[in-house]
Amino acid sequence: MSQPILSVDHVDLGYGSLTVVFDFSLHVDQGELVGLVGGNGSGKSTVLRAISGMIRPMKGRILLDGEEVSGAKPHQMAQRGLAHVPMGRQLFANMTVHENLLLGAFLPAARSKRDSSLEKIYHLFPDLKKNAQAMAGQLSGGQQQMVAIGRALMLDPSMLIMDEPSLGLSPLLVKDVMASIRRVADTGLPILLVEQNVKQVLSISDRTYVLENGRNVLDGASEELQGHPMIKKAYLGL
Ligand SMILES: Nc1ncnc2c1ncn2[C@@H]1O[C@H](COP(=O)(O)OP(=O)(O)O)[C@@H](O)[C@H]1O
Ligand SMILES: [Mg+2]
Repeated sequence: MSQPILSVDHVDLGYGSLTVVFDFSLHVDQGELVGLVGGNGSGKSTVLRAISGMIRPMKGRILLDGEEVSGAKPHQMAQRGLAHVPMGRQLFANMTVHENLLLGAFLPAARSKRDSSLEKIYHLFPDLKKNAQAMAGQLSGGQQQMVAIGRALMLDPSMLIMDEPSLGLSPLLVKDVMASIRRVADTGLPILLVEQNVKQVLSISDRTYVLENGRNVLDGASEELQGHPMIKKAYLGL
């Protein structure tokens, strides 16, 4: 069996002396779309911050492609092939879609593949190609989220992590964005998707981890979790 692209191995995470995530482990295998779900304040973003190098684990280890990266800085994680779609999209509203995408190719290795990356992204998201010269701020929330994902793909990453891409979108747009994320995963790129929208994540992901108050209370194949009594009661309103 090949090794996971990402392993989070028994980490404690927090801020200053405050621990907010306890003994948490997770792995993402090559080609997998993995969900990390839980309510507000459960620790999802903290896990992503540790993976992308914004905070250092207090305990435990993080490995990317088999190499320990605990304590690596965000730019080092990017150089190692990790791309991050931040919460709130963070686009430049008064720049075109095209210009926003080009900003994603900020590393030399990515810059040299700029044109082929752009072509791939426009192929994956025809809506973005149509709107390439539109100001990013004029697009719908769903299209803006696709720009944010496209910008991360411009890094030609080996793994993608995303923080709440459905935030603030209408249910119809959430469906569109989730379908886009599945399309990206189907290109073979491993993805860790953090979301509060449990129902949508379970419908597109291969496996899912559930965090409550900083602890992993449940994980497994998403298809099986859809029928799990705890999930149905706590998250699906059934
Ligand atoms: N910069 C910070 N300093 C101190 N506490 C924080 C900070 N960021 C988040 N927290 C706390 O950590 C816990 C988990 O937060 P977070 O990871 O943002 O949860 P989620 O993304 O699941 O909503 C919360 O109790 C939150 O108040
Ligand atoms: Mg969060």
